[in-house]
Amino acid sequence: MKNVYGIKGNIIYTKIFGKYEVVSNGIIVIENERVKGVYNDLPLKYKNIDIKDYGDKLIIPGFIDLHLHAPQFPNMGLGLDKELMPWLNKYTFPEEAKYENLQYAEDVYKKLIKKIWSVGTTRCCIFNTIHKESTKLLLDLFNKSGLGAYIGKVNMDRESPDILIEDTNKSISETIELIKEYKDKYKLVKPIITPRFVPTCSFELLKSLGEIAGKYDIPVQSHLCENSGEIELVKKLHPECRNYTEVYDKANLLKENKTIMAHCVLVNEEEIDLLRDKKVFIAHCPTSNLNLSSGIAPIRRLIERKVNVGLASDISGGHTLSIPEVITSSAQVSNLKWLNSNKVEEKLTTAELFYLATKGGGKFFGKVGSFEEDYEFDALVIDDSDLLIENNLSIEERLQKFLYIGNSNNIILRYVSGNLINEPIL
Ligand code: GUN
Ligand code: FE
Repeated sequence: MKNVYGIKGNIIYTKIFGKYEVVSNGIIVIENERVKGVYNDLPLKYKNIDIKDYGDKLIIPGFIDLHLHAPQFPNMGLGLDKELMPWLNKYTFPEEAKYENLQYAEDVYKKLIKKIWSVGTTRCCIFNTIHKESTKLLLDLFNKSGLGAYIGKVNMDRESPDILIEDTNKSISETIELIKEYKDKYKLVKPIITPRFVPTCSFELLKSLGEIAGKYDIPVQSHLCENSGEIELVKKLHPECRNYTEVYDKANLLKENKTIMAHCVLVNEEEIDLLRDKKVFIAHCPTSNLNLSSGIAPIRRLIERKVNVGLASDISGGHTLSIPEVITSSAQVSNLKWLNSNKVEEKLTTAELFYLATKGGGKFFGKVGSFEEDYEFDALVIDDSDLLIENNLSIEERLQKFLYIGNSNNIILRYVSGNLINEPIL
C-alpha cells in the first residue's frame, strides 16, 4: 500500500483529560501523515505494510509549546530576580532591539530551532520582535526544519522604548504584508497576529489587528493578566473597560478557537466566562510565572470552567524550552495551590498534565497531539533504559520517570505530520 507504514513499540497517549491510553507492543498505522489506528493485532489489510519496530521503547505524541519568544533565547536565565515590567525594560527590550540586524537574528534562530527540535517540541507558537524582515527569516528557517509553528511579528506602538516602538500605520501595513506573503506559503509554518499586550498597543492598533485577523482568517496570540503591575497599568490606560480581557474583546481579538492568551494568572470570574465563551486557549507558563514572581494560574478552575489550556515555556521569562520540565513545574505549582486552598482545589495529575502538553495545546493546530484516528502523526520515540534502575515498571510509570528525570538524550526520534525529522541543518 502506498504511503502506509506502521510503528511498533510501547505506545502511550491521552484521548481524555487525565486518562492514559496504553498499548504495549502496539503498532500505530499511519497513512498520508495521519494515524489510521493503534493495534495489538494488525488488521489483515495492513499485513504487508512496512513496520519500523522500536522494541521496548516508548512512543508518545510530540510536545506542544503554546508560547515562547524567539528573540529572547540569548537571554535565557538572565534577570529572573525581577518582576515583569522591570525585567522587560532592563533585559528584554534591549535584546529585542537587536533583531533589525538579520545576521544576528539568523545566528540566534538557528540555535533556537535546533534546541526546540532537541527537547521534543514538534509544534510551537512564537513571538518574534517588531521587525518584519527577521520575522520572515524565522518563518523560512522554521519551514526548513520540518517542525510546525505559528510565528508572529510583534506589534507595539506605545509605552515602549524608542529603540522598539512602531508607527501605528507602519505596524499595520507590515503585518498585512507578512500575512499576505506567508498565509499559504508553507504547510506547517504559518503567520499569527501578535499584539505584544495591551500596555504596548494603542486601541487603534488593536482594533486594526482585530480587523486583519477577521479579514484574512488569521489566529491571534498575546499576553493577559500575568502580573499585578501590568493589570494596574491596563486599568489606568482603559478605564472604559470592565477588565483587561474586555480590551481584547472590544478589538475583536478573541477569536473562537483561534486565540492564545499567555498566563492568565490573575483573571477574575467574569474574565473566565468571557475566555470560555470565546473559546480562547490559555498558555500556562508556570516556570515563567515562578521566575518573574507573577503567581500561580488557576488552571484547575479554568479547566473546570471549560476553558482550553495548553502548556508553554515562555522563554525567556521561562528558563527552559523543555515541555517535560514545564510539566514538572506545573505539577509543583498545582501542589502548592492545593495546599493553599486547604486541600480543596484538586491537584493536577501527571496524566492530566501530559494531556495538556500534547492534546490540550495540540487542539490549537487542529487534529494534533494524540494517536486517535485521523490525527496528524507527531511522535517521539523514547529510549528510557538509562532511567530504569533495577525496576520493573508499568508503561505509565516509565512515562512519569521520563517526564520528571529524563532529558533530550532520551528522545531518539521525532516525527512531525508523518515525517521523520532529523536534526535541522540550517
Ligand atoms: N508581557 C509582555 N511582553 C512580555 C514578554 O516578553 N514576556 C512575558 N513573560 N510577558 C510579557
Ligand atoms: Fe511571553
